[in-house]
Order: sequence, then C-alpha cells, then structure tokens
Amino acid sequence: MTDLTANDDLEALRTQLLERVAQATDESALEQVRVETLGKKGVITLRMASLGQVAPELRREVGQANNALKNAISEAIALRQTALAGAARTAKLAAERVDVTLPAAPEAEGHVHPISQTIEEITQIFAEMGFTVAEGPEIESDFNNFAALNIPPEHPARQMHDTFYLPPGADGAARVLRTHTSPVQVRTMLNSKPPIRIIAPGRTYRSDYDMTHTPMFHQVEGLVIDESTHMGHLRGCLTEFLRAFFQIDDLPLRFRPSFFPFTEPSAEVDIGCSRKGGQLKLGNHGDWLEILGCGMVHPKVLDMCGIDSTRYQGFAFGMGIERIAMLKYGIPDLRTFFDADLRWLRHHGFSFLDQPSLGLGLTR
Ligand code: DAH
Repeated sequence: MTDLTANDDLEALRTQLLERVAQATDESALEQVRVETLGKKGVITLRMASLGQVAPELRREVGQANNALKNAISEAIALRQTALAGAARTAKLAAERVDVTLPAAPEAEGHVHPISQTIEEITQIFAEMGFTVAEGPEIESDFNNFAALNIPPEHPARQMHDTFYLPPGADGAARVLRTHTSPVQVRTMLNSKPPIRIIAPGRTYRSDYDMTHTPMFHQVEGLVIDESTHMGHLRGCLTEFLRAFFQIDDLPLRFRPSFFPFTEPSAEVDIGCSRKGGQLKLGNHGDWLEILGCGMVHPKVLDMCGIDSTRYQGFAFGMGIERIAMLKYGIPDLRTFFDADLRWLRHHGFSFLDQPSLGLGLTR
C-alpha cells in the first residue's frame, strides 16, 4: 500500500481504502483490510502518529482530516462486516438445508425380532375377533402352573413338562418357571367374571435343548368362557386365525382327538401341507402338520378357578410362537432365534416401519 501522508492525497487514500473495503469478499479478507488500515501499523494509525511532524499551523486541520478518514473507514468496515456475516449465514443455511419432504430412509439401523413381529401379528388378528391380551408372571406358583389346571402332584404330565423348580416363595408355596402360558387362564378366571375372551402370549421355560427345543421359548394361550360357547366356535375361531396368520384362504384344518388334563374333550390341530421333494409347503396339499393343542375347558378347572361349571363353559388353546414363526418365515433352526447374532437379525428381522401385516379382511 502506498504511504500517503500529504494532505492533498487524503481524498485519493480515502477512495482507495473504501474500495478495498468494498472489495473484501469474505470476513477474513475484511479483517486483513482492517489490520492494514486501523491496526497498530495500519496506514491511518501511522498517519495519526506522525501528526507531530506536520507544520504546527496545519496540525489542527490535518488532525481533523485524519479523524474523519478514520471514522469513515471504521464505519465502512463495520457495515461491510454486517453484510458479509449475513451473507455467510445465508450461504450456510442454504448448504445445510434439509428437504423434509424426502421419504424416510427405509433401512434405518435396528430390526424387529421375528418373535416380536409374530406376537404383533397374532395380537392383531385376535384383537379383530374381540380378544384382549392378558399377561402373567414368568415365575409362577405350582398351583397356577399345575394344580389348578387339573395336574395334581404325581400326575405324569408334570414329567413331560421338564419343569425348572424354584425355591418356595415367602408364603412357603412351591414355585416354578412357568412351563406354559396356561397359568394365565387360571389367573384370568380367578380375577374376572365371564364372558372372558383373552389371548396370553409370553415366555415359557422347560429344561430341554436341541434342534427343536430351547429352555426359553414362547407360547400363546387362548381362552373363551361364556354360557354357550362350544366346540364349533373353537373350530371356527382357530380356522379363521390360522388362515389369516398364514395368509392361505383355503388352509385346511384337521381336529384329532387328544388328551390334556385341563380340557375335555381335547384335540390337536393339524394344518394342510405338502412335503414333496423334502420341501415343506403349507396349504391344501393332502399331507398334515401338527400345529397346536386345544379343547373345551375341563369343568374341574372352571370350578378350581371360581367359575360355576354348571353355568359356564368355553374353550382354550395353546401354541408355540417360534413354531408358527418358523413355518411362516422359513427359519430352519429354532436355536438361532436366541443366539443374538446381528447378521441373523438383519436377515430375518423386520423393519420397525412395517405394519404387522394383515387384518382378517385381507384373506377373504
Ligand atoms: N399348555 C399346553 C402346553 O404346553 C398347550 C395347550 C394345549 C394349551 C391345550 C391349552 C389347551 O390351552 O387347551 O403344552
């Protein structure tokens, strides 16, 4: 920068400096101009410092002119500073603009476990049939898990359950990890009055481990109690559910006589399938696959649960959630459900944005 000290060059300096201020295209360039004009060794600062060398009779005039120049440049810098800062903010906002109308990324981190998804689907279908969801604890009394379900001590059914026994509770009563969801039937009947229409999905425990058994697994229980519900209703309800769940309109069901201590009569339900070429395929193909247990609630169970068996009757059913999830979603090994393997979950899991499929209407 030219060192202009003579008074008559003041106008030229002023014009030159104002031009430099105007030409600063960002805040750091402007700061540079400020340092070179108003800084310690800036042109204007130096001019003001050298006032002593000006002839005494001119000092006043030169001093005023210097001050005027300093004020004019300071003001120009401040104005330019405001303009540049505003422009910088506008540019930043434009660069960071988010288009809120873009669709959400469908593959966000995290997946819904197939068991959770299946429970959602079961719940949705039964909710449309007027069922509510009941829950019970995983640590149960021997009474709720066995005795009230007509399985007294020494009953052979107890052996079949591979029960995890726990130390007795504070009241001295025997306790177990519930071996099935049927104790929720007992709790519901003890705590409410008919009509009853519930499903009870949840965790259950048995001491068993192989391709088709894990010590913790899930079941869903169903219970309907009123004055007139009969086996035909049971059949209709399960047909409706299984067809909606597997999304096969003509899925055939076969009711085979069976035995459970807590139902009379009892049945096991098979659904139609084919095993041709070693491939399991559900549908009306002539072969059968066992899927669940059910029956009319035993009068003794009603009475033990405080329900008058001369007035009320109804049905119950129970099925394994892993089993129907494996069939619907083609998952071959039960044990993989609980390995907590992220690759497995990415493959078999569901997006949390998905609706839990199907209402009943979709299959009709
Ligand atoms: N609680 C039985 C089980 O674990 C399943 C079951 C069968 C439940 C028949 C029922 C039923 O409610 O009626 O193995």
